[in-house]
Amino acid sequence: MGYVTRHLVSIADLDASEIVAILDHGDRYWPLADEPIKKLTSLRGRTVINLFFENSTRTRTSFELAAKRLSAEAINISGSGSSTTKGETLIDTARNLQAMHPDAIVVRHAYGGAAAVIARSVPSAVINAGDGQHEHPTQALLDAATIRRLKGTIDGLEVVIVGDLAHSRVARSNILCLAKLGARIRVCAPLTLIPRGIDEIGGELTRERVRVTTRLEDGLEGADVVMMLRVQSERFEGEASRFPNTRELSRTFGLSERTLAYAKPGAIVMHPGPINRGVELSPGVADGPRAVILQQVSWGVAIRMAVLERAILGDGSPV
Ligand code: CP
Repeated sequence: MGYVTRHLVSIADLDASEIVAILDHGDRYWPLADEPIKKLTSLRGRTVINLFFENSTRTRTSFELAAKRLSAEAINISGSGSSTTKGETLIDTARNLQAMHPDAIVVRHAYGGAAAVIARSVPSAVINAGDGQHEHPTQALLDAATIRRLKGTIDGLEVVIVGDLAHSRVARSNILCLAKLGARIRVCAPLTLIPRGIDEIGGELTRERVRVTTRLEDGLEGADVVMMLRVQSERFEGEASRFPNTRELSRTFGLSERTLAYAKPGAIVMHPGPINRGVELSPGVADGPRAVILQQVSWGVAIRMAVLERAILGDGSPV
């Protein structure tokens, strides 16, 4: 496989060939979901700790399933159930978990940089399962795997990312990942939900490949892939209101059957979840034939199996 680093903190740390290696590695595990016995043995005897300081349905379950399907022990710890509620620092928590000799720590935290801090503090492989508004690398990898599988390629595709870009770690990771794989990306939202410099997060590469638009129809026109984002109200605390109200946002930036018609006829509709029905997606689109939201979830397990093997076995990953 030729993997160089075992941590997975940021898509920014991966080059295109390493991203493709992870996608290829994940491809081997998609068929496993259809088997009656979904069990391999490559991580037998290994331990994976899922340390989640923020709520999660998809990522946490997916990492736990991925670990178990490879025969690793998977331990889940939630922030509210950990001793950080008694004043223990994140680094002390990580060092104490390390003292029990896990092979990998999967971490989700509300603060951008939390995964990097842990990766510098412990010798175990650390996987970022979402850190604040910074990155969600495995979401971007599973999104890329889904696009590649359904469209055959990513190179040359037109991808539009619509919604709350200001608070979205998924958008940041996807912009970096898809740009590295040769897509053209439009980001689309009201100006108040577009962070300054979003088209520069990957330097020259994203300056060339990312276009900002504040008109939904313009963003959707001719798109191959439409990626919708949830408004992350939980991250708005203490901020001035960025849009008049949810109904107005839905009217101007929500994806409906009418607005989806601006995209290419074969365009797929993606969403990292959780979706807010009737806000960023009409129910007809969310449940319609173009939505691939549940495929993203299904195929995410295969990608996380690949990521865990990469983290724990490194170059020893079975080929
Ligand atoms: N996509 C995603 O990160 O979902 P969860 O918050 O449920 O893990």
